[in-house]
Amino acid sequence: MYTGLQHAHSALAYLVLIGVAISLLAASAGLFGGSTFTDKNRKLSLLGLIPTHLQWVLGLILYFVSPLGMSNASGDAMKDATSRLYFLEHPLMMVLAVVLITIGYSKAKRQMGTTSGFKTIAIFYGLGLLLILSRIPWISWPGN
Ligand code: HEM
Repeated sequence: MYTGLQHAHSALAYLVLIGVAISLLAASAGLFGGSTFTDKNRKLSLLGLIPTHLQWVLGLILYFVSPLGMSNASGDAMKDATSRLYFLEHPLMMVLAVVLITIGYSKAKRQMGTTSGFKTIAIFYGLGLLLILSRIPWISWPGN
């Protein structure tokens, strides 16, 4: 089960990055083009939201079964940068990113018919993407 989850979490990370990036680019194009945020635009921002939510669930399960997750949390692990990344920084930042992306989507949904919807998606998805990029374990991904 552990290996399967690990592979799924690793593969889904591509969809998260691609989905959030596409949603962000589309929102930026709408924002700078001065268009109105419609239901079609809302659906496009689901490209970022759905894989991120699935990844959150997988990550949470992985946290309890991986030797790098909760079972590795200790004072000694805190002193080691790689261990700290896996048991603390990565999960914490990713949860924050998911929260930001979710807030952005929910706010934008209520701004349909205005130009502000694009701005909301651009800001919240942009911040979320920065957090994700800052704490992906680049030492092991992609590549195994
Ligand atoms: C947007 C959300 C997330 C993204 C993009 C993401 C991405 C990744 C990537 C790329 C890896 C490295 C995989 C590899 O080395 O092959 C990884 C590992 C890991 N992630 Fe996440 N993750 C996310 C959310 C989470 C969350 C919310 C948790 C826990 C609550 C979590 C827990 C873990 C753990 C424990 C590992 C190490 C797994 C292992 O190799 O044993 N992740 N994640």
